[in-house]
Amino acid sequence: MSSRLDRFISQNSVFSLSDTRLLIAQKRIVLDGHLAHSIQQKVTKFTQVVLDGKCLTYKTPVYLMLNKPRGVVSATKDLKHPTVLDLIQHPQKNELHIAGRLDFNTTGLMLLTNDGAWSRKMSLPETKLEKTYEVTLSKPLNDDYVAVFREGIYFSYENITTRPAGLEILSEYTARLSLVEGKYHQVKRMFGFFQNQVLSLHRASVGNLSLEALEVGKSRALTEEELDLTCEGAAQ
Ligand code: URA
Repeated sequence: MSSRLDRFISQNSVFSLSDTRLLIAQKRIVLDGHLAHSIQQKVTKFTQVVLDGKCLTYKTPVYLMLNKPRGVVSATKDLKHPTVLDLIQHPQKNELHIAGRLDFNTTGLMLLTNDGAWSRKMSLPETKLEKTYEVTLSKPLNDDYVAVFREGIYFSYENITTRPAGLEILSEYTARLSLVEGKYHQVKRMFGFFQNQVLSLHRASVGNLSLEALEVGKSRALTEEELDLTCEGAAQ
């Protein structure tokens, strides 16, 4: 497993992904005895990375996707219910945190990592990472929903208007919703605007990541390709 230099720096120092370019320009990073020249240089656990004369130690980064079942809490500990962490077998599982929670009965794609910079970036609305949800409603849908979701809905509690969201009506009671943000219970509250109760909610994708054949309750590591694409998306 290797890590891109900017990701490595953000994980192992006080500097962020976007600081790395400047650190390189200021000749403050040395890789295996040579000045670093690109944020895209690869760092493995055998690479010696020196920043401002201090050697950084490598913490193996972990990035997992999980297909969350219903009835599991998006938390690392819970006294009453099983948590998503209970579903994971990984030697570093106790280092992991959740990048984007799902409600108890929501199913689908969840991301877990020990890389705080990555998860922060992934959840910033400015990153505009699209999350796709499949929704089943209790009342029939119509085209008014599409227009209202595109315009945005005012949430008085936070005093915000939701960012433009894409709604594709799939059948009378089902739809696919694309959001670039993740406010508390956002999907349920958006359909709540029409007093339409969400009966089931499934997150099918986050950015370029999708569950594909991953079984319910199972997790797997993101591939390097997935991670690179995610970081490129998250860096825009
Ligand atoms: N919106 C919700 O209302 N619930 C979720 O679990 C995710 C998004």
